[in-house]
Amino acid sequence: MSKIIVKNSGALQGEIEVSGSKNSALPIIAACILNEGRNELSGLPDLSDIHIMFSLMESLGARIEFASGKTIVNCEHITNYTTPYELVGKMRGSFLLAGPLLARAGRARIAMPGGCPIGTRPVDLHLKGFAALGADISQGHGYIDLKAKNKLAGAKIYLDFPSVGATENILMAAVTALGETVIENAAVEPEIVDLAEFLNKQGAQIEGAGTDTVRIAGVRELKGTAHQIIPDRIEAGTFMVAFSATRGTGRIKNINFSHVKPVAAKLAEMGVEMRCGPDYIDIDAAKKLTTADIKTLPFPGFPTDMQAPFSVLLSTVEGTGMIVETVFENRFLHVGELKRMGANIRIDGRTSVVEGVKRLSGAQVNALDLRGGAALVLAGMVAKGDTQITGVEHIERGYENLVGKLSKIGAKVYSEK
Ligand code: EPZ
Repeated sequence: MSKIIVKNSGALQGEIEVSGSKNSALPIIAACILNEGRNELSGLPDLSDIHIMFSLMESLGARIEFASGKTIVNCEHITNYTTPYELVGKMRGSFLLAGPLLARAGRARIAMPGGCPIGTRPVDLHLKGFAALGADISQGHGYIDLKAKNKLAGAKIYLDFPSVGATENILMAAVTALGETVIENAAVEPEIVDLAEFLNKQGAQIEGAGTDTVRIAGVRELKGTAHQIIPDRIEAGTFMVAFSATRGTGRIKNINFSHVKPVAAKLAEMGVEMRCGPDYIDIDAAKKLTTADIKTLPFPGFPTDMQAPFSVLLSTVEGTGMIVETVFENRFLHVGELKRMGANIRIDGRTSVVEGVKRLSGAQVNALDLRGGAALVLAGMVAKGDTQITGVEHIERGYENLVGKLSKIGAKVYSEK
């Protein structure tokens, strides 16, 4: 079983580059099903979640090739409309195939994604949207069956919660429906805007992506196109926290500042100095930082995916920081592991109270989910002594070459097969 070994790294220094966004790439790969042409995607990150999505697409009949740094996705021959459980179980984002399959073929049979460490992850809002568009839904034997007797018809859909996945799935189902669809209380994350831009390049007519009301005028057909994926704002945020927790200074390249504003605002509140260029941030955390309170919210609030890395940063700062997790019901799995490293964190329901400690201590710890695993790497860099991290497969789902990238800015991080 592979491990990541982390030693106390001192202040990180240097330049680090952000890869393309996993959470933008997954729906955009799925959206290629909506046309029968050639789609040329640039900037896809090399991650296990992306490879699983490729396998799922190929199991449906898609052809995926790689040429000079681009990924060519061709869905001329989609012959299968069922996603296999063994693949869906590995990656929740696979439910994003439901909307495009329903739009293209009027049917989809998707293995229920099942739970995941951070919560039950229901898809009721996705299904509410599909039903409003005219799909019949049945569930059984661990699968969700979607069938549309007639062509999907535009509808007005109100999302009880601005779900990212539900907004994406309904968008993809609605682009070739008859008439207009309006999604109200839609998610406004940058990944929604990126997906809408990709769909509009295919010939869709979407207005309002990035606001809480998205209008889609159905069109007859879509065509293949080319698209560059936006940078990964959560990987960028993780690097911002890595420099901050080690009191380092450096440049983070390939960033869209407006996407990382909530994280930058919180770091500035703690005393981290930042200066942003057109596509990079210079960060100077060689300061005495003060603690802060965090409440995770849908964008443009503080991102839930940054909550675990921040609990490490708050552990290195004197004083008491409160973290309230409002988006997922079980996203403190990393706390038990951090406490093995000497962190002083108390959990009360959806709140964790983080007391700064003089020094964390290296230990053997286990990554239980993607962002919690990344937090353990950050903790190892500031701890006294060595840290051994197992459960590395969780980290590899969402961080491309994390060990290689961090080593380049001075982190003492090693992979051990
Ligand atoms: C996306 O998950 C991201 N994943 C998550 O990133 C991210 O944390 C999340 O959005 C919030 O920003 C991908 O994009 C692949 P939601 P998603 O639907 O779409 C509830 C990472 O670490 N909900 O906005 O699943 C749900 O249970 C991952 O990269 C319903 O109740 O998020 C959760 O409590 C983790 N019914 C809340 O909404 C539904 O039908 C937010 O979920 C759908 C969601």
